[in-house]
Order: sequence, then C-alpha cells, then structure tokens
Amino acid sequence: MAKQRVLTGITTTGTPHLGNYVGAIRPSIAASLDGSTDSFFFLADYHALIKCQEPERVRQSSKEIAATWLALGLDTDKALFYRQSDVPEITELTWILCCVSAKGLMNRAHAYKAAVQANEDAGEDPDYGITMGLFSYPVLMAADILMFNAEKIPVGRDQIQHVEMARDIAQRFNHNFAELFALPEAVVDDSVSVLQGLDGRKMSKSYNNTIPLFQTEKQLRKSINKIRTNLLEPGEPKDPDDSTVFQMWTAFASDEETARMRREFEIGIAWGEAKKQLFELVNGELAAARDRYQELMADPAHIESVLRQGAERAREYSRPLIRKVREAVGISGVR
Ligand code: TRP
Repeated sequence: MAKQRVLTGITTTGTPHLGNYVGAIRPSIAASLDGSTDSFFFLADYHALIKCQEPERVRQSSKEIAATWLALGLDTDKALFYRQSDVPEITELTWILCCVSAKGLMNRAHAYKAAVQANEDAGEDPDYGITMGLFSYPVLMAADILMFNAEKIPVGRDQIQHVEMARDIAQRFNHNFAELFALPEAVVDDSVSVLQGLDGRKMSKSYNNTIPLFQTEKQLRKSINKIRTNLLEPGEPKDPDDSTVFQMWTAFASDEETARMRREFEIGIAWGEAKKQLFELVNGELAAARDRYQELMADPAHIESVLRQGAERAREYSRPLIRKVREAVGISGVR
C-alpha cells in the first residue's frame, strides 16, 4: 500500500517557541522518521508576506525555522524539506486556482472575516488595511497542498477551514477540467498537547507569552521562572490540573514522571522546586539540539544548500503536475 502523503507548511514570520515544538515540530519529525508516512514540510515564505512586511524579519525567520527543523533531527532523505518560494510552480498554480475559486467561498474565511470585524468594531471602513494577499490566502494554501497531491494535512484547529477550502477548490478543478488533484483532509491530533504560555493562555506569538525554543540555557531558566503560578506556600497542596508548570511538565515527561509530579503537587511541592525540575527536564530534551542549532545558524550556506536540494526534489513532483494542469486549462506554451 502506498504511504499516505502528509504535508504541512510553517509561516516564516517568527522565532519557533516551545508551543510550536510540542504541538507541531516534534510530532511531525517523529512521523517522518518512523517511515509510516511520506512527508512534505516547507517554509511558507509567501504566506509570511500576508502578515509581515519587514523583509529582514522574513529572512531571519526563514533561517531560524529551517535551522530549527534540521537541528531537531529532521532527516531530509526521509522527508522533503523545501522553501515555498523556491518552487515557482506553486505560485503559478495559485493563479490558475484563483480562477476556479468562488469569491463567496473566500468571503467566509475566518482570517479575513476577523479582519473585517475588527475594522467594523473600530468604526473603520470594512476593507481598511485588507490586502488581496489576506483575502486570497486560502487559494495560495490550496496550491501548496494540491501541488503535491497531499492527502493528510496536520494543522491546528484554526486551519481546518483552509484545508476544507483546498478540498473544495480541488473538487471544482477536477470537475471542470481533469481529475488531477487528490482531495486533502485536515488531521488534528488531539493527543498532541497545546502548550500553555507564561500567562496560562495558549502559547502564541499573538499573546506575547511564548518561551523561545532555542534561547540560551540561562534565558530558558529565566523564562520558566516567569510562568505564572498562584501564591500557595511550600507544603500546601497544589492542583496540578490548574497549573501551567504541570501542563508543561506533561508535554516533556514520561508517564511515570508525570505520575510522580502529580503526587509532588498533591503533597505541596514548592513552586521554586517544581520550576527547577521543569527546567532540568526541558533543558535535558533540548540541550543537544540547541548546540546544533547554533552551529547551523552560523553556517547559512549549509542551510541554503539543504533547501536548494529540497526544492529540486520537490520540483520533480511539481513540474510534471503543472504541465498537466496547464494543458488541462488550455495553456499550451512550451516550458
Ligand atoms: N497557513 C498555515 C498557518 O498559518 C501555514 C501553511 C501554509 C500551511 N501553507 C500550508 C499549513 C499548507 C498546511 C498546509 O499555520
């Protein structure tokens, strides 16, 4: 049986944090290594332009995200790893898909609707600050997915709608022209934890409550010490299920270690001690990768060459498919 093709993109606007690691990077790399899937991972740098018009930040973030995946042991022989902008067939497909995508479908996209709502709440014109990039973003995402006939798309809940739109667009193309696209499906893995941030809300750039994945050991200790706790004293029983420290512990610990910490909470471990143990645990998992990350960041030429090779391999898929797509819609210039 053919392996399932799994594909996911990472928008290059920020610095990876522990939430990205636990929720996306760690499970994705594990799945690619165990050989059960055919994995495609890419840096979604054209997506970055939708929300970020700071070239230096996009450049730096692309480098950091690539270095992160490589430092964490992504094996580029087992998974295809590339940068979206290195595969020009994706943007070409985006336009063709734009021409089969209903505007009404895009009107319903959450990200766009939220931006309109924010404008209305602020008493602005509903279109204020909204670019065509934001509006048509689900079409670019559909092209990312359909270009590689990906079937399973691991995403957070906020992205399910976009994968459904990709499916819709694929169906419409297949119906109008030729059966060229597989119908993708979102996969949301509930066993993967959504990490809480410093303030107890979901860890997210937009809440400014993140712990960067590869900050120095000293900074990591400091960040963990900043996790919000209550005022219970040492010796007073603490509720593990209402604690960000414990929640983070469970994302890194074995089942036995989790059971032990649960008992420690119940008999009143001091917050300082719990945080110290949490730091040791997290740091233990990340220390070696952090060193590799620093080495990679100091060697951008190496990162570039890995990405270039990835793009070459990706284009072995995208070139023949775009040729068929062009033919199907009646564009027949030689390429
Ligand atoms: N839009 C996704 C996000 O913000 C990133 C992304 C871009 C993506 N293209 C994709 C995810 C294709 C899955 C498949 O998280």
